[in-house]
Amino acid sequence: MTDLVLPSETNPLNNLFGGELLARMDRAASIAARRHSRRIVVTASVNHVAFNRAVPLGSVVTVEAAVSRAFSTSMEVFIDVWMEDRFSGERTKANEAIYTFVAVDDTGIPTAVPKIEAETELEKQRFAAALRRKQLSLVLAGKMKPKEATELRALFMEE
Ligand SMILES: CC(C)(COP(=O)(O)OP(=O)(O)OC[C@H]1O[C@@H](n2cnc3c(N)ncnc32)[C@H](O)[C@@H]1OP(=O)(O)O)[C@@H](O)C(=O)NCCC(=O)NCCS
Repeated sequence: MTDLVLPSETNPLNNLFGGELLARMDRAASIAARRHSRRIVVTASVNHVAFNRAVPLGSVVTVEAAVSRAFSTSMEVFIDVWMEDRFSGERTKANEAIYTFVAVDDTGIPTAVPKIEAETELEKQRFAAALRRKQLSLVLAGKMKPKEATELRALFMEE
């Protein structure tokens, strides 16, 4: 999803307002989750957001979203945000985020989603770490007991 940064979308430093970027990321991620599941999808959680670089007024911003892992009814979506240099056209990574979406039926009940096959090295890394991020998100939301988060606990037990 590529779009410009307009004056109404900036903060007093003339950089892209964080909430505007969150909304753009949510839109792009929901399209990725919907294309994967072919279902209505809702944002269940925002697991990680890093605003590493300010995005100045007038920038051309590209938000790329891809499902990194599908569980039973939920999908983890990775979002990479790029900005384009006005003169050279070179793309620089500005931000990244990880969202969780849940596929639901017409009444809002979670419904099954197809599995995903990781192909590239990056996809495989993101796929492998997705389960512990899901467990962390559920623990923080009070939906899972820390002792049940086996994959997450294993991370801290490594030598
Ligand atoms: C997201 C929602 C559908 C989950 O409903 P629920 O009753 O908690 O359903 P479940 O407990 O069966 O969870 C469904 C899936 O979501 C996952 N999930 C729920 N909360 C989560 C969280 N905080 N982090 C990560 N995953 C979460 C569960 O692990 C489960 O995944 P799985 O089936 O792949 O294993 C429900 O909470 C909802 O509709 N929320 C509002 C969504 C919304 O309006 N979003 C826009 C915000 S403005």
